[in-house]
Amino acid sequence: METMVDQMISMPRIGEKAPSFTAVTTQGNINFPDDYSGKWVILFSHPADFTPVCTSEFMTFAKREPEFAALNCQLVGLSIDGLYSHIAWLRTIKEKIEFKGMKNIEVKFPLIEDISMEIAKKYGMIQPGESSTKAVRAVFFIDPKGMIRAVIYYPLSMGRNFDELLRALIAMQTADAYAIATPADWQPGDDVIVPTAGSCGVAAERMANQVDDVTCHDWFFCTKKLSLEQVNHPPKLN
Ligand code: BEZ
Repeated sequence: METMVDQMISMPRIGEKAPSFTAVTTQGNINFPDDYSGKWVILFSHPADFTPVCTSEFMTFAKREPEFAALNCQLVGLSIDGLYSHIAWLRTIKEKIEFKGMKNIEVKFPLIEDISMEIAKKYGMIQPGESSTKAVRAVFFIDPKGMIRAVIYYPLSMGRNFDELLRALIAMQTADAYAIATPADWQPGDDVIVPTAGSCGVAAERMANQVDDVTCHDWFFCTKKLSLEQVNHPPKLN
């Protein structure tokens, strides 16, 4: 039977506008997503302050923040804790915690307080089968136009893979810049997939190897080289 909590939870989907909200954060008030217009945003939730998996993740997010910033991507965190809990936890992380060679780590990106769970419910971060009182580990990739482009959910017990978050961000930016798709396990510098032939003529040309730099595994599955240099320096988009 559907519960009250189920009824109030929405699940924003890929291709939809990111639901808007205003919030109090550890870096002041924000108006989301408008404050970040023109940037990619990773909006992520964590279950609770002062917990070990979350602490390891926050230290890693903060350490790797420059890599996200270099990709024009702002990090924004959220949990169902209050502002003073957030402040105390971030101070503890900076002053006391050492983990995997990381220490003295300062979290400079905003961490949203969401005691009312209003934002967490708007973003489908409360998944009652896992917990009705803690957000799951959700990751929303939101593009510079405020559209949701990818969503990943992890359970409470699993820390996120930051190489994968960066890879996903780069893959989407590369797909936008070059109108290509990326195959399984793609890494920057690997071959990319060109759009499937849209006419019998193009399909025939490709299969006859008449198209420069394109390798076809079959008429509908063709790849081409895209250098690391091209991935790292994409043309500017409007
Ligand atoms: C953690 O971050 O360690 C954690 C939080 C909630 C449930 C389980 C683990």
